[in-house]
Amino acid sequence: MDGNGRWAKGKGQVRTLGHRAGVEALKRTITAAVDLGVTHMTVFAFSTENWRRPAQEVSDLMGLLRAFIKADLERLRREGVCVRIIGQREGLPPDIVTMVDDARARTKDNSRFFLQVALNYGAQADIVEAAKRLAEEARAGTLDPAAITPDLLESRLSTHDLPPLDLLIRTSGEHRLSNFLLWEAAYAEFVFQDILWPDYGRDALKAALDIFARRSRRYGGLEADHAVQSA
Ligand code: IPE
Ligand code: MG
Repeated sequence: MDGNGRWAKGKGQVRTLGHRAGVEALKRTITAAVDLGVTHMTVFAFSTENWRRPAQEVSDLMGLLRAFIKADLERLRREGVCVRIIGQREGLPPDIVTMVDDARARTKDNSRFFLQVALNYGAQADIVEAAKRLAEEARAGTLDPAAITPDLLESRLSTHDLPPLDLLIRTSGEHRLSNFLLWEAAYAEFVFQDILWPDYGRDALKAALDIFARRSRRYGGLEADHAVQSA
């Protein structure tokens, strides 16, 4: 969800107002995603690298998350949204950990739409955590290192119970992954949009989904017609 700061700057406003507008964009985009038939969405709200920002901005972002949960969780619950957080709990303010645990508990039986909020998340750290878990099992003697496969490592990632990542959207004209879902993006389709996150919503999401629908996905194989010819 990139571009909040530039959006605010373009309007002569402070960055926090950009983040506030970003929350409105998130709400619009969730509604649009449900409406357009998307079933799972993971949004990058705060990275393990975002702690480098000024303390005031970090605290504003955490405050917006608190306000979002307080104001919108109940509506999301009623609409059938299952909400959860991925990322490292260590380092987050304790009340945020309590709030996100509570949000998860309150929405855990919902299955119309799965919303993952990546918070204090970094893909490399997530892969390292998975590797550590496997190493612990090997040390405990319950896992033979020779039995480690991509599927097994994947089963230890925080995204293990999500379907394969189909579409990865980057907003604001940036062309980087910025440590988001590195493993999961192996066969994802990338769509880069110049739109700043606070301007995101139904039209932008629909445009991204239309681009996705026109892509040919081969997973290292051949087009379906070639595959049939060579079969
Ligand atoms: C939001 O956009 C991303 C968050 C960390 C919440 P930015 O704050 O990165 O906006 P730009 O890149 O300065 O425009
Ligand atoms: Mg940015």
